Amino acid sequence: MRDIIKIEGGHRLNGEVRVSGSKNATVALIPAAVLAGGPVTISGVPEIADVNSLSEILRMLNCDVTEKAEHLIIDPTNMKNTDLDAEVITKLRASYYFMGALLGKYGYVRMKMPGGCYLGPRPIDLHIKGFEALGAKVEYEKGCYTIQADQLKGAKIFLDISSVGATINIMMAAVYAKGRTVIENAAKEPEIIDAATLLNNMGANIKGAGTNVITIEGVEELHGCYHEIIPDRIEAGTFIIMAAACADEMKITNVIPKHIEALTSKLQEMGADLEIGIDSILVRNAGRLHGTDVTTKPYPGFATDLQQPLTTLLTQADGISEVTDTIYSERFKHCQELQRMGANIELSNGKSVIKGPTPLYGDKVTATDLRCGAALVIAGLLADGVTEISDVYHIDRGYDNIDGKLKALGGVIWREKAE
Ligand code: EPU
Repeated sequence: MRDIIKIEGGHRLNGEVRVSGSKNATVALIPAAVLAGGPVTISGVPEIADVNSLSEILRMLNCDVTEKAEHLIIDPTNMKNTDLDAEVITKLRASYYFMGALLGKYGYVRMKMPGGCYLGPRPIDLHIKGFEALGAKVEYEKGCYTIQADQLKGAKIFLDISSVGATINIMMAAVYAKGRTVIENAAKEPEIIDAATLLNNMGANIKGAGTNVITIEGVEELHGCYHEIIPDRIEAGTFIIMAAACADEMKITNVIPKHIEALTSKLQEMGADLEIGIDSILVRNAGRLHGTDVTTKPYPGFATDLQQPLTTLLTQADGISEVTDTIYSERFKHCQELQRMGANIELSNGKSVIKGPTPLYGDKVTATDLRCGAALVIAGLLADGVTEISDVYHIDRGYDNIDGKLKALGGVIWREKAE
C-alpha cells in the first residue's frame, strides 16, 4: 500500500510558512560526518525520507545515530567499514557521498551504483576522475564500485562540468590526503559552502568553497562538532512560486534571499509582488502574471530544480513562455502530467513551450520525480476539482511535511492509501 495525495483546488492560501533545512546540504553533511573522530551534531535536519535512508546506511556502518527534534547526532567512534551493497543505496542519489567519505577515511569503499530521480543520464564519471587523480584505483563490476588507495595524495583536478556532487565528493576524499588538492571549475552552489563549513568545523582546511577554485590541505585528524544546516533554497523557491500562483498573502520565513535571486528576479519580471526581507519573503497577490523565458544554469543561475514548479505557474501566465534546461535535458516529465490537467505545453529537445493562461482541471497524475511532484502539488491547488497524485514517495524524499505546511496555509490536501 502506498500513499496518494489528494488536493481540492481553488482555495487561496494565506499565512506564514517556515522553510526547513536544505535537503541537498543535509544529504552531503550526513555522509561527511563519518570522517570525524567523534560525535557530530547536525541541527535543522529536515524530516524527509532521504535522511531516513542515510541514517540506515550509517547504522550499517556501525555509527551511532540519535535523532532529537531537528538534531541528528552521528557518532562514528565505533564505525566499521562495510560493503554498501544493500537496496537502500539505490533509493537515493546522495548515497554516492559515502564514496568520497569512506575512501577519505579508510582508503577503501565498495558500494552499489546510487539511484535517485530519473532526469536523463546522470553519470558519475567526474567523481571517479577526481578519486583517480587522488591516486585511487576504481573498478566497476556487477553494479558495484570498488575504490581503493594505499595513501591518497593531493592533486590538481579540473572538472569538465561544474558538478555539485563531484565537487563535494572530491572535497571529502581529499580532507585526509597528503598535501594539497585543488579543484578547478568547482561548483559554487550554497550546499558546497555548507559541506565545506561542516568539514572545516571538524578541523579540515578547505578554502575557496563558493568560488570555482577550492583548495584542500590534507590534515591528520578530524574531530566532532556542532553544525547548523542552511535553509532549503529549493523548498523556499517552491513556496514562493506557489504563493505567486494562488496566495492572497504568504510570508515564507527561514530564507536566505541571496540563494534564490535568480528566481525572485524572474518572478518580479513576470509582475509578481515580492517584499524581500533579511531572512523572509512576503508574496502578495499581484493578479495575472505575464509569461517569460527561463534557462537553467549552475548557481547562481536559475536552478534546474525550480524549473518544474515554475512551469505550473507559467501555465497561468499571459503569453508564450519557454523553459530550457541546460543541466538535465530530459527533466520534462512533469509537462505530460500538467498536459493531462489541461496545460498547453509543447516539448522539443531540452525545452518546453508553455502557452498561457489555461485553466487546470483535477485529474489522476503521477509524481515521476521529486520536483515534478512539487509542480503537481501547485497545479492541484490551482485546479478545478480534486487532483490525485500517485508515487508521492518522490515528494516525501525531499519536502518536509508538505501536507502539514499546506494545511496551515489553508490548502485542502489529504492522503489516502492505494494499492
Ligand atoms: N555530470 C556528469 N558527470 C558527473 C557528474 C555530473 O556528466 O560525474 C553532469 C550531470 O549529468 C548534469 C550536470 O553534470 O548534467 C550537473 O550535475 P551535478 O553533479 O551538479 O548534479 P548532482 O550532484 O547529481 C545535485 C542535486 C540535484 C540538482 C543538481 C544540479 C543533490 C543530491 N542533488 O545533483 O538535486 O538538480 O545538483 O543542481 O544534491 C533535486 O533536489 O531535485 C535534485 C535533483
